[in-house]
Amino acid sequence: MTTVTKLFTEDEIAVRVAELAAEIAGALPDDFIVVGLLKGSFVFVADLIRALDRLGSAPTVEFIRLSSYGHEQESSGEVRLIGEVPEIIAGHSVLLVDDIADTGRSLVRAKTLLTTAGAAAVWTCGLIDKPFRREEEVSADFVGFTVDDVFVVGYGIDFAEEYRHLPYIGAID
Ligand code: IMP
Ligand code: MG
Repeated sequence: MTTVTKLFTEDEIAVRVAELAAEIAGALPDDFIVVGLLKGSFVFVADLIRALDRLGSAPTVEFIRLSSYGHEQESSGEVRLIGEVPEIIAGHSVLLVDDIADTGRSLVRAKTLLTTAGAAAVWTCGLIDKPFRREEEVSADFVGFTVDDVFVVGYGIDFAEEYRHLPYIGAID
């Protein structure tokens, strides 16, 4: 049996998301596009844009889908784009929102895709950072929580498509 150990409660996440929104609203131009990386960031994006709204910010929202995992806890090393990068990104400031910065490969790949699509500027926001796992030289501009080398689930984040529905963030063994 897999057990989930709670790392961050719903309340802790809500507080941190509000803080992140304040950091982001203070640093970015008025006009920007939030680009979420699917699937893992969908819950985080939903909360973040509403936290931004409470601060008077009105970003538009797009998503791109990358895939690096099959049903393993270890990344396959290959990050594939599924579908297309929205054309609207050209000429706009973008906040790229990811669930987890692990090896950093997805972040690097997504940033390259957005820059190639003509983004005027790209900021990055990761809900969870695992700096000890990094293989690419990249760091997110805004980070929610930093964790050690644990496998996290919940709040949109999966293990083999399970656990996304958990309202809190936990670690599985
Ligand atoms: P990276 O490309 O190695 O940085 O991996 C980033 C992606 O791997 C994340 O967006 C997640 O989808 C997935 N991932 C990395 N660590 C975890 C984890 O602890 N739990 C669930 N998914 C993870
Ligand atoms: Mg994933």
